[in-house]
Amino acid sequence: MEILPTRVLTADVSAHLTGKEVRNEDRSYGSYRIGQLAVKSLLEKHAPKDIIAVVRDAEKAAGLLKRGVVVRAADYGDPGALKTALAGVDGLLLICGSEVGQRFAQHKNVIDAARATGVQRVVYTSAPRATTTALVIAPEHKATEEYLAQSGIKYTIVRNNWYTENYLQQVESARKTGVLVAAAGAGRVASASRSDYAEGAVAALAGHGHEGKIYEFGGDYAWNYDELAKAIGDIIGKPVAYQSVDAPTLIGILKGAGLDEGTAGFVAVLDQNIAAGLLSEVTGHLSSLIGRPTIPLKKGLTRQFGLC
Ligand SMILES: NC(=O)c1ccc[n+]([C@@H]2O[C@H](COP(=O)([O-])OP(=O)(O)OC[C@H]3O[C@@H](n4cnc5c(N)ncnc54)[C@H](OP(=O)(O)O)[C@@H]3O)[C@@H](O)[C@H]2O)c1
Repeated sequence: MEILPTRVLTADVSAHLTGKEVRNEDRSYGSYRIGQLAVKSLLEKHAPKDIIAVVRDAEKAAGLLKRGVVVRAADYGDPGALKTALAGVDGLLLICGSEVGQRFAQHKNVIDAARATGVQRVVYTSAPRATTTALVIAPEHKATEEYLAQSGIKYTIVRNNWYTENYLQQVESARKTGVLVAAAGAGRVASASRSDYAEGAVAALAGHGHEGKIYEFGGDYAWNYDELAKAIGDIIGKPVAYQSVDAPTLIGILKGAGLDEGTAGFVAVLDQNIAAGLLSEVTGHLSSLIGRPTIPLKKGLTRQFGLC
């Protein structure tokens, strides 16, 4: 029997969804997080009273409360608060946490609370080919997927490729330098916008026929760094060249720009993962679920600056 969630929940929503309440500097689409965008998407088809947003700081979600969304406070690290927050929830969108190294323990807390409170189905935002890939960020996702699979709760996995918004910083640095420096070689990235992923996750949560499915979400086109440089050049109105460097050179450049050794090394490994093709897969799963093409690279980057 298919379960239609009557109470849906997204975690990690610190939302101010109405323009009035959004600070001026936060007005661009890119400032919205996946959780906020998921609530926005849910509100298009569901009554606010049927949506529960779990946040760490309820004050940040005052805008949602005003719209009639149920707001509950819980940290992924607090099993008791999670159990209280999940009471009455049918369908849960578990958005992966952001504290690398602690994420599996946090996700386990959420899944345990979901099982204890009788959540019918969990949709989890994972990483591309999480259980088999060499992608450096995959292990916590793999562990979460495996824990969820043995939990007895029905589930759907949406494995998100890169966010197009990850490259906003490169737009700003290219504006100053005219170059895009990376150790990604000729690798390709099937990125999509956060809003695409949020809409896809909501489609998987609220729609029928997704139980037990694993979706590889990403953009409809995998671009390379020459194409990224061209897109950035078009946006800033001057030519940008892709400067392909090796990992040690990139680490040196990033440290010179003020990054610590660990962060610089992490960025370099991610670039090497891209060079190895680990983010290049195009499946069409996301556009299929959202019923439209994904937002292309340049439009995804441009929207962030409010230019369209
Ligand atoms: N695929 C990609 O390219 C990519 C890129 C970046 C991140 N990610 C992953 O995708 C997730 C969602 O991305 P995003 O950009 O929407 O989020 P984000 O900007 O990284 O923000 C993380 C959100 O998680 C919440 N959070 C962090 N720790 C929490 C905890 N212990 N308990 C409850 N909530 C917690 C934060 O709440 P507060 O507002 O209270 O701080 C915040 O709203 C991230 O957490 C990250 O793991 C993927």
